[in-house]
Amino acid sequence: MERTLLILKPSAIQRRLIGEIIKRFEQKGLQLAGMKMMKLDDDILDIHYAHLKDKPFFAEIKNSMKSCPVIVQCWEGIDAAKVVRNMIGSTNGREALPGTIRGDFSMSVQENIVHASDSAESAISEIKRFFKEEELFEYSFSGQAYMYAKSETDS
Ligand code: TYD
Repeated sequence: MERTLLILKPSAIQRRLIGEIIKRFEQKGLQLAGMKMMKLDDDILDIHYAHLKDKPFFAEIKNSMKSCPVIVQCWEGIDAAKVVRNMIGSTNGREALPGTIRGDFSMSVQENIVHASDSAESAISEIKRFFKEEELFEYSFSGQAYMYAKSETDS
């Protein structure tokens, strides 16, 4: 099953949105494969935001991400990366659609509550960046038959 990485940024922690955010993904039907709280440092952020290193806001986004612990989560499901990206909304909270996490809780580009992998491919390396193998779990729900058609999970 496809996995994706979600980070509850300092803005989510400080705005006391942890439960609200987990609730949304849980209710959607995604499965939590791993979760932990951690303090990010320059080493991990320089890699995670390498694509932004020449941007004028690079130092500011790193400082924001270091300002308080974050919660990293690994969510699992068919097309998990795409589903989660749709649920978080576009980068700028002021433009993100209502109903999305950023659309409902953010008025900012930088303080936009969550990070999520932008594709299944980048999720693979991002999950490795934040989780050790033994911190991720495989298990099944008794209600699995009501989550997907058999033909969807057989492939
Ligand atoms: P990016 O990878 O472009 O967006 P996304 O998080 O939607 O994948 O940017 C990473 C983060 O950098 C973004 O969540 C917030 C911050 N950022 C700024 O602070 N200012 C900006 O102009 C942009 C584009 C991003």
